[in-house]
Amino acid sequence: MSRGLVLVEREPEGRIATVLLNRPDRLNALNEELMGALVESLQELDSESEVRCIVLGGSARAFAAGADIAEMADASVMDMVAAARVDLWYAIRAVKSPLVAAVSGYCLGGGCELAMACDVIVASETAQFGQPEINLGIIPGGGGTQRLARVLGKQRAMQLVLTGERFDAATALELGLVNKVVEGGGWLEEAMALAATVAERPPIAVRLAKQAVLVAEETALSPGIENERRLYELAMATEDRVEGMRAFLEKREPKFEGK
Ligand code: CAA
Repeated sequence: MSRGLVLVEREPEGRIATVLLNRPDRLNALNEELMGALVESLQELDSESEVRCIVLGGSARAFAAGADIAEMADASVMDMVAAARVDLWYAIRAVKSPLVAAVSGYCLGGGCELAMACDVIVASETAQFGQPEINLGIIPGGGGTQRLARVLGKQRAMQLVLTGERFDAATALELGLVNKVVEGGGWLEEAMALAATVAERPPIAVRLAKQAVLVAEETALSPGIENERRLYELAMATEDRVEGMRAFLEKREPKFEGK
């Protein structure tokens, strides 16, 4: 399946889907059309029960070089207020399937925000991260100030947002922004291998686990633990947990059905 601006592929069993941004002449700059196509693809895959994990990537040269500056250049304040763009960011946040960002090359501005909106990030050694919006006279508008501060701490986030300076994959790993750095061009394969591991896990528990961890970004500890408790009880109500526990006791591999 291909929508041109995004390329969607499924591995043969259909459990892992790959969505690749495909606007190479603009280094995958995120204009409204590309964001719309991306969200449409993610929502479609999210609704398919056989899809267990989605890998979101770009090209070797660029994951995404940010929001489309040409599109923004002549936009009025009212254009920005009326734009569907904000809803598109919310829609990405609402995807229930785990999202693995596969980042190579430029991952700047809205691109960095998109990677951070995913659940885990696998980066090529060539990846370049940053929030350069300040150089354009604006600030990050897709969650960058908030997610960077949560992941890196306020001081580091502040420096990056105030200076717009870029940092490399090794630094991103050290700062805890990315989960893994891959050498020698195998970034997409490594992201797919991670997705394959997640895809083997019981799918209802995977979605509940994602929900539970995401709440930690939003809430204080006690309500977060309370929420976790409810999700844990839901997991206890699944057939997969009966199978998982039986399989352990019977010393065999579990067969999860997503029930
Ligand atoms: N928007 C629109 N076009 C972009 C773009 C962007 N964000 N990034 C790159 N392009 C275009 C370039 O204009 C260029 O087009 P032409 O061939 O017509 O000249 C083409 O993509 C290739 O780019 P470069 O020739 O510049 O490639 P380079 O390798 O020399 O540099 C780069 C790469 C460092 C990423 C540089 O392109 C760059 O600095 N891009 C802008 C990065 C940026 O500021 N991003 C933040 C955008 S604002 C934002 O994201 C707001 C938000 O939070 C939502």
